[in-house]
Amino acid sequence: MSSTILVLGATGTVGRHVVDGLLAKGEAVKAASRAGKPVAAAEGVAFDYARPETFGPALEGVDRAYVLLASGYVDSKGLLLPVIEAAATRKVKVVLQSVIGVDADDSIPYRQVEIALEKSDTPYVILRPNWFSDNFHTFWKPGIDHGQIALPAAEGKSSFIDARDIAASGVAVLTSSSFDGKAFNLTGPEALSYAEAAAILSEAIGKPVTYNAVSDEAFIEMLTGAGVPAGYASFLASIFYPVRQNWTAVMTGDVETLTGKAPRSLKTYAADYAAALKA
Ligand SMILES: NC(=O)c1ccc[n+]([C@@H]2O[C@H](COP(=O)([O-])OP(=O)(O)OC[C@H]3O[C@@H](n4cnc5c(N)ncnc54)[C@H](OP(=O)(O)O)[C@@H]3O)[C@@H](O)[C@H]2O)c1
Repeated sequence: MSSTILVLGATGTVGRHVVDGLLAKGEAVKAASRAGKPVAAAEGVAFDYARPETFGPALEGVDRAYVLLASGYVDSKGLLLPVIEAAATRKVKVVLQSVIGVDADDSIPYRQVEIALEKSDTPYVILRPNWFSDNFHTFWKPGIDHGQIALPAAEGKSSFIDARDIAASGVAVLTSSSFDGKAFNLTGPEALSYAEAAAILSEAIGKPVTYNAVSDEAFIEMLTGAGVPAGYASFLASIFYPVRQNWTAVMTGDVETLTGKAPRSLKTYAADYAAALKA
């Protein structure tokens, strides 16, 4: 019986840590990306959501898969449902990286992907992370460079989670069947406004960074001006509504349940990533 784990988005924010964590546990890993490059000691395999002909070769010899949709894509249902189906047909256990809060309404596309997985006849675990701490050294990095993070979050709070804690949770559920058939809401240890987050980042990098609460329209204009496609800019603006409602301030013990360790604080993230935040 095969015992290999396919990791999608293996060169990305969460996937690279999932690969590292699985290799450290001695698991055989196939690292999937469009480029198909090896990641650390894991063999690389070419995979593209938009090219279903890549699914079969990627799933060959695989019994478990970490499935996520890369950032930059809006059509979660259209792109992930065929992947889930291909995995379920082969009885591959799927660990789906979803998004916190999507279980509030069954009409939300990500929730529909979850439901399809729940109804499939294959083992699964759903992980729903909150906003990543890592966004500060990726998406919001230009703002940090200019000393001001401008977002349509009003004064809403989020319990930011470190991608390393999402990955550690993924490794835990991929390497145990104890959590199968369940969903976990992954959060950091404290709910912070973006103004509070900016103060923490300022201190870590030794340079003033403030937060500017902007409107959806101003945010979309800023993103499209920086070259982000209009559809994705509107999508990003729309997902700040739950932040303004403070729904993302929720804190759970799920990371600790899965990994045995408390999740990292934003302060720890900022200290560990100070060089990347300053670069
Ligand atoms: N950021 C947040 O705050 C947050 C919060 C909650 C949930 N989420 C969810 O987390 C997901 C993103 O996770 P992430 O940040 O770890 O991903 P990511 O870093 O954006 O993923 C990039 C990876 O995906 C690969 N990739 C890009 N396009 C691809 C394609 N067409 N087919 C196959 N692979 C492709 C990339 O390699 P190649 O370019 O070589 O293909 C790379 O390995 C999203 O679904 C998002 O909704 C994010």
